[in-house]
Amino acid sequence: MDKFMIEGGAKLYGSVKAQSAKNSVLPLLAASILTDKKVVIRETPAISDVVCMAQILRELGAEVWFRGEDIVIESARASCHKLSSSLTKELRSSVFMLGSLLTRFHRAVISYPGGCDIGLRPIDLHLNALKRLGVSISEREGYILCQCDKLHGADISLDFPSVGATENVMLAAVMAEGTTCLTGAAKEPEIVDLQKFLNRMGAKVAGAGTDVITIEGVKELGSVTFKPVKDRIEAGTFLIACAICGGEIEVTGVRGENIGLLLHKLRENGCKIQVKNDKIRIESNTRLKCNRRIETMPFPGFPTDLQAQATALNCGAEGGALVVENLFETRFKYVPELQKMGADIEVKGRSAFVRGVPRLHGASITAGDLRGGAALVLAALGAEGSSQVLDLSHVDRGYYDFEGKLKALGANIQRVRV
Ligand code: UD1
Repeated sequence: MDKFMIEGGAKLYGSVKAQSAKNSVLPLLAASILTDKKVVIRETPAISDVVCMAQILRELGAEVWFRGEDIVIESARASCHKLSSSLTKELRSSVFMLGSLLTRFHRAVISYPGGCDIGLRPIDLHLNALKRLGVSISEREGYILCQCDKLHGADISLDFPSVGATENVMLAAVMAEGTTCLTGAAKEPEIVDLQKFLNRMGAKVAGAGTDVITIEGVKELGSVTFKPVKDRIEAGTFLIACAICGGEIEVTGVRGENIGLLLHKLRENGCKIQVKNDKIRIESNTRLKCNRRIETMPFPGFPTDLQAQATALNCGAEGGALVVENLFETRFKYVPELQKMGADIEVKGRSAFVRGVPRLHGASITAGDLRGGAALVLAALGAEGSSQVLDLSHVDRGYYDFEGKLKALGANIQRVRV
């Protein structure tokens, strides 16, 4: 497994363009089989989660290929409604396939999905919502079996604004008979993107970005070429990198309102931030102060996917910080690795108490999940001395050419292929 060799201490300067959002591209790929016409998703990063989702579509019988930076899907010949357990276990987003498969085949069989080991991640909200649309569900030997004669519109309420469950309802209701009204929906920008994509295919979806989404079923969906929203989590990771290392960078592609709370927290740390349309400029040239409190929440709250990176920042800042993780139960698994670098953190349940130290030192550390792994890379870039970050397979799930982009900003980082 590959590793990064990092020499800490270089300041970051320059400009970096955000990739298309992983969390948009994955549901769009699932949506691509709703039509048997050609679908093109522009500027798709070849991160391993995307490669894995493409493989899932191929197993269903679709033809999928990269054309330059775009990905093209033709699923006219797709005929299979069952996902093999090896791929679904690798990728939690395979759960979105339930909604798409039910729309296309009225049947779906998947094994319990995988993804990062960051908590229990049940799928009860997905399954209960699908039942409301007329799907009967049973479980056998680790597989979930779903089927229906037809899908019909329904009033559905989510007890919690789950991103995946919201997207699955959209995918299952888009060609159902009648109208679906989903209340308690998640409001993430990637859900707005899915609505745009579906409507460009001929769907009638409204309300994404608010907590009520209505989906009027249509008879058929057609071809679409679509450029997804840019990755606010990747952008946020680079902004935090610059805050930690010092310097001045510009991140392009992401609108400030999509990471509003992060920008607020970075200002609290003492960074200067300027936002103009989809350009965010950060300058970090003083000793950072800790945030008193960071609490993860569904959008527009502080994103759980930036929690680890923000914690890494606070480790080397002045004062103390309380970080509360409300989304996933075990999303502090990276903490023992930061402690190897001299971080002073105490975890109690869903809270981490950080006492800032003057500077972290280099160490040999292992990435155990995607965002925790990114946080370790950032910590190593700001630390004194050299570090190696082992097992990059998790980081490669979500960041395309992470080291190339960091190197272009002046970071001292090399990938060693093992
Ligand atoms: C998506 C994102 C992920 C992000 C997360 C929260 C994608 C591909 N992934 O994941 O990067 O960290 O949103 O912003 O878009 N829950 C249930 N039952 C369910 C579904 C969810 O209890 O049926 C709980 C989960 O355990 C978790 C919370 O709801 O505590 C949020 O999960 P959800 O919003 O569904 O996250 P994902 O869609 O898996």
